Amino acid sequence: MLARLIYASTVTDPLRPETLAALLRQARLRNTLRGMTGLLTFDSRHFLQAIEGSPQAVNDLYAGILRDPRHRNVTLLKYARIQSRLFPDWQMGFLSSSAAHRALYAPMMTGPTFDPYVLDGEQAEALLLGLAEQAVNADTATA
Ligand SMILES: Cc1cc2nc3c(=O)[nH]c(=O)nc-3n(C[C@H](O)[C@H](O)[C@H](O)COP(=O)(O)O)c2cc1C
Repeated sequence: MLARLIYASTVTDPLRPETLAALLRQARLRNTLRGMTGLLTFDSRHFLQAIEGSPQAVNDLYAGILRDPRHRNVTLLKYARIQSRLFPDWQMGFLSSSAAHRALYAPMMTGPTFDPYVLDGEQAEALLLGLAEQAVNADTATA
C-alpha cells in the first residue's frame, strides 16, 4: 500500500543556498532510509512538494513538515492512496523556478507569479509531473 501527498507552503525567511542544500541533503538521506520518493519545487517564495511512500511514512513526514519552522501556511492540496509512484527515481528531486517551469504553471495561475495555493490537487499533481518530465528530458538532451 502506497500513498501520495501534495502540499504548498511559504518560506519563512529568504532561503540561503546553503540552507536549501542542507535541507535537501538531509531529506534525501531520510527519504532513502524510509523508502520515500517525491519532488520539491521552489520559486524563491513558495514550495510545492509531492511525497510518496507507505501511508505511515507519508503521514510521519507530513507531521514533521507541518512542524518545520523553515516554512509556514503549509496547505494540503491532495492526499491519495496510490497503486504506483509518479516519482520512483527521485529520493527528493528539486526543481527551482525556470522559464520552462513558468510555461507550465502560467495557465493555472490567476496572476503573473507562482502561487501554488490556487492549485487544486489534480493541477498540482499535473504540474509536478510535467516538471519531472521536462527535467528528465533535459537530462537526456545534455547527457
Ligand atoms: C520545504 C521542505 C521540504 C522538506 N522535505 C523533506 C523530505 O522530503 N524528507 C524529509 O525527511 N524531510 C523533509 N523536510 C524536513 C522536515 O520538515 C523535518 O525537518 C524532518 O522531517 C524532521 O522532522 P522532525 O524532527 O520534527 O521529526 C522538508 C522541510 C521543508 C521546509
